[in-house]
Amino acid sequence: MASFLTASNATVPERKAEGLALLHRMWSRRSTPPRHLTEPGPTDEEIRMLVRAASRAPDHLHLSPFRFMVIHPDARDALADVFVAADRELDPAIMGEQLDRTREKAHHAPVLLAVISRVQANDTVPEIEQRASAGAALGYVLLGADLLGYGAMAVSGRRLTTAVMRSAFGLADNEDLLCFIGIGTAGKSRGVQSEPDADLLQTWLPGSRQTI
Ligand SMILES: Cc1cc2nc3c(=O)[nH]c(=O)nc-3n(C[C@H](O)[C@H](O)[C@H](O)COP(=O)(O)O)c2cc1C
Repeated sequence: MASFLTASNATVPERKAEGLALLHRMWSRRSTPPRHLTEPGPTDEEIRMLVRAASRAPDHLHLSPFRFMVIHPDARDALADVFVAADRELDPAIMGEQLDRTREKAHHAPVLLAVISRVQANDTVPEIEQRASAGAALGYVLLGADLLGYGAMAVSGRRLTTAVMRSAFGLADNEDLLCFIGIGTAGKSRGVQSEPDADLLQTWLPGSRQTI
């Protein structure tokens, strides 16, 4: 079957039909918790494609306010050590089963992608825009993973803000670890979300408040 994405001679109705199919994928996408993601995960080439999609997130003045780091498959034990050290930084008394659970999280999902948000001082592009850009990039990766047939989910937690994690990921002062994205094969789907709240979209008309 011809792909409209690559067929430059696709007609407008053909492109729209494909767009509607993609939109349907967008609004039916659900997250799958990393502990439920199994092999196979995306290949290196597919990971590059996801990051390429993310690179098309809106980015005012091309400040590149985000970057990604894929956790090397051989680095899961090292990541578990970092998670444990981070949790100890947050709570020096933590021990036992809690630390076992922490350690497990570093082994969830075949692929773990760290999302790093970066903010540069800029007179034209305020911080909120740069953070929004990183959020859009994250969304593109989640959607792209879904389009490739994988399950994925963004996960974070307080440990991401610790000095231990910042140091382990070599973050500059203007960078933050936004989240990890776990990507892999999802077992059962969580089902389509219900319709969004009517309040999600309103019409701006001074003096009135209406939805369309
Ligand atoms: C940056 C970021 C970090 C998140 N961290 C967590 C997390 O640590 N734990 C969690 O349960 N959900 C977290 N979420 C929310 C989930 O990724 C997901 O969006 C939510 O469970 C809704 O599921 P759905 O995508 O199927 O609607 C995070 C979302 C974002 C954007």
